[in-house]
Amino acid sequence: MIRTQVGIIGAGPAGLLLAHLLHREGIDSVVIEARSRRHVEERVRAGVLEQGTVDLLNSTGAGERMRRQGLVHHGIELRFAGRRHRVDLFELTGGRAITVYGQHELVKDLIALRMASGGPILFETAAVGLDGLDGDRPLIRFENRGEPDEIVCDFIAGCDGFRGVSRAAIPAGTVRHFRKTYPFAWLGILAATPPASDELVYAHHERGFALLSMRSPEISRLYLQCRPGEDLAAWPDERIWNELRTRLETRDGFRLESGPVLQKSIAAVRSHVTEPMRHGRLFLAGDAAHIVPPTGAKGLNLAAADVWLLSRALTRHYRGGGADLLDSYSDTCLRRVWRAQHFSWWMTSMLHRFDPADDFEFRRQLGELDNLASSRAASVNLAENYTGLPLDGMESPI
Ligand code: APR
Ligand code: PHB
Repeated sequence: MIRTQVGIIGAGPAGLLLAHLLHREGIDSVVIEARSRRHVEERVRAGVLEQGTVDLLNSTGAGERMRRQGLVHHGIELRFAGRRHRVDLFELTGGRAITVYGQHELVKDLIALRMASGGPILFETAAVGLDGLDGDRPLIRFENRGEPDEIVCDFIAGCDGFRGVSRAAIPAGTVRHFRKTYPFAWLGILAATPPASDELVYAHHERGFALLSMRSPEISRLYLQCRPGEDLAAWPDERIWNELRTRLETRDGFRLESGPVLQKSIAAVRSHVTEPMRHGRLFLAGDAAHIVPPTGAKGLNLAAADVWLLSRALTRHYRGGGADLLDSYSDTCLRRVWRAQHFSWWMTSMLHRFDPADDFEFRRQLGELDNLASSRAASVNLAENYTGLPLDGMESPI
């Protein structure tokens, strides 16, 4: 049996950042992670950090390598009808930017910090169930070399992603789930080729959406809209490059060059929200509580905002300041979550081909993109949401 103050399930960005923030406040935690260290450190996922996430990492001593290797971008490009339109995020928001830094790089940094502080992470150890959530000594059950074992804690942080055990441990009837599925998926590649653009390119095209992103000056990250449930075997590298080339080309002669594909995968595009994000002594954070379509680049940033709030709430509790922040945790998080759901849905709806036969919808999207390209007010709205809402100030109800 292991005893700790906060039992954290999952060593993704949510669980690891929470462990780091709690450690800085002198609060003990144990992180339990189903997969190996190597697996979580090499899993290629999101890559865009909002200004608030960057500021949080820097102000808590977790931003050292990100400051050196992250790519600070002051704008993004929208590409439609063969034209390019740059959205100057920096100018439109009075000085806010985004930083392109792979989620797995952040995960490596947070694991290194955790190891340096001597804090435990139990890798290759899956939580199998939770008990006592309604009392004051909840516990996480797991198996230790085939023998049942448990982590007894004051609080449990369910940071175990979309397919974890935490959400499932909440009794049916005490939470509501809000779901939306989109009629397409994203096929993503990592390629050993310098990014063909200095900034991210979001492309609207009659064959479907495409996104040009990057991880470093040598590595590109590209995505294209494909059918849901598509088989990767149907997508040899040359087909992927051809499709990306077609969707990203411009009238002024932009042409994408192919390069070696290091990794490819297909991810569903969906939304999910669990309300409330708490049951008794269990607090959900990150993908365990909510999923957004990737178009707005919000998933990782929402996870960071959740655990920042949770660490503040737990700190106040342990300092004898009461349970008010724990009690308002779910409402405060959910206000940001629904803003992000709206923004991600809007970006997704504007840029993807939902029904190849729906030409009205295609023309409507072009009208919307034209409005964005011509209207400062519309561009400010995109820029403010894309660079992210401030971490503070979401406490008051709508
Ligand atoms: N026991 C222990 N660990 C578990 C269990 C379990 N039963 N089930 C899942 N996990 C682990 C997973 O192996 C994973 O490492 O929980 C971790 C959850 O991490 P993420 O999926 O990265 O979720 P989160 O930390 O909330 O980060 C959200 O991930 O999917 C992206 O775009 C999303 O950027 C966002 C970020
Ligand atoms: C990425 O680089 O992985 C990325 C960038 C922007 C998005 C989604 C993913 O909207």
